[in-house]
Amino acid sequence: MNALKNLQLPKTDLYIGGDWVSASSGAAIKVVNPATEEVIGEVSDAGVSDGLLALDAAAAAQTSWAATPARERADVLRSAYEAILARRNEFAAIIVAEMGKPWAEAQGEVDYGAGFFRWFAESAGRLHTEGQFGVEPGGEYRIAVSKRPVGPCLLITPWNFPLAMGARKIAPALAAGCTVVLKPAAQTPLTSLLLAEVLHDCGVPAGVVNVVTTSDSPAVVSAIMEDRRLKKVSFTGSTQVGQILLRQAADSVLNTSMELGGNGPLIVFDDADLDQALEGAMVAKLRNGGESCVAANRIFVHRPIAAEFIRRFTAKMRQVVMGDGSNPTSGLGPLIDGKQLAKVSSLVDDAVNKGAVCALGGNIADRAGYFYEPTVIHGIPSDADIRTEEIFGPVAAIYEFDTEDEAVDEANNTPYGLASYVFTRDVNRALRVADALETGMTGINRGIVSNPSAPFGGVKASGLGREGGTEGLDAYLETKYTGIQI
Ligand code: SIN
Repeated sequence: MNALKNLQLPKTDLYIGGDWVSASSGAAIKVVNPATEEVIGEVSDAGVSDGLLALDAAAAAQTSWAATPARERADVLRSAYEAILARRNEFAAIIVAEMGKPWAEAQGEVDYGAGFFRWFAESAGRLHTEGQFGVEPGGEYRIAVSKRPVGPCLLITPWNFPLAMGARKIAPALAAGCTVVLKPAAQTPLTSLLLAEVLHDCGVPAGVVNVVTTSDSPAVVSAIMEDRRLKKVSFTGSTQVGQILLRQAADSVLNTSMELGGNGPLIVFDDADLDQALEGAMVAKLRNGGESCVAANRIFVHRPIAAEFIRRFTAKMRQVVMGDGSNPTSGLGPLIDGKQLAKVSSLVDDAVNKGAVCALGGNIADRAGYFYEPTVIHGIPSDADIRTEEIFGPVAAIYEFDTEDEAVDEANNTPYGLASYVFTRDVNRALRVADALETGMTGINRGIVSNPSAPFGGVKASGLGREGGTEGLDAYLETKYTGIQI
């Protein structure tokens, strides 16, 4: 089976005000399959004026979308959930073709992404039944507290989960009554354009969702952010870019949600169920080929079990079949591009040159595409860059520790604080360590925490705000207080 045979591309123009329009310059972005380095299609390359047209459309649609009854908005979101699942293979094929993840993972991403539409359809239905109405403590007047949509939003999404990251922002924004301009990553625009098609067919009114694909994000994003009609920016990506956006957002005191980089620790204690810990570590390391900000970037193993853990983990990594995601036997796809491949390679080379032991892999694969071998390194010296940098690749960096305090201190010894993982059979230890870890999310005896119904997000340099869960809807709402004289 080749899932990409007869690949159907979605419409490739910009989606603005309910219409498909070419970029004003007529320019195009080439979309490359990272498994083959072949161009699979071209999409319109928006400039500043196109970005502002999209904001015009979002601003024009804001009042009527906010006034649309919450149940009607919920029904549209529910239809989107069903329509995405009905086109599961089509989405998965596009994700594999432009992003490179294995077929089963691409299908998993479709389910995960669709899940945000279902979750926020359910939340939208309850939205305006929530609020407070009471008398202020002095008894003089009444206090009414209600929620309002923030207003038009700019949503900036990364290439690693091209459907799910858009869904995690669009669904709550629409549920809350906000209109949006989505700017997907230039490497993976096709999935977002297919999503726009689906939302259009599900009855999302013109202007409520607009999609602008561009190779010049800094210019297009800055122009939209400088326009006072924009009320919020939600970004998923690197901490470095997030900091630039936060500075820009300060000028107009924009509401921001920032889901930024990580340096996730995964801690395995000697009382853990080792089979469970090995499974969890494999998922936390290799989901999406390690190209995830919640990936286990540093695996800390209690010294008494370290040799056995490394031996068995390495054996599991050796069994991983690397290949084009369109081949269903493939368990590890390519990295997104040559730049990411060079970065992963240089992190491993730096560690090994400084004295780390390479138990498996350690090389760029000898084949077309941006493939890096499944790799395990340990004995990593304190000055290796891989200790502090987000790897974003299939490289397990394993460290040993002697005490619980040492594991927690090492885990927290980073400016980042997104996800962490703990493996132990001792419930007290599990909860104690989870509390002590400075991360927004912790998995206990599991290597994956992402779920549309749970609040995803980080502390420290990993970001501001939460996506998913009830918090994910709050991010698109303002609180309105009305004082009523009795
Ligand atoms: C990310 O890597 O940015 C998101 C991963 C997830 O949602 O699980």
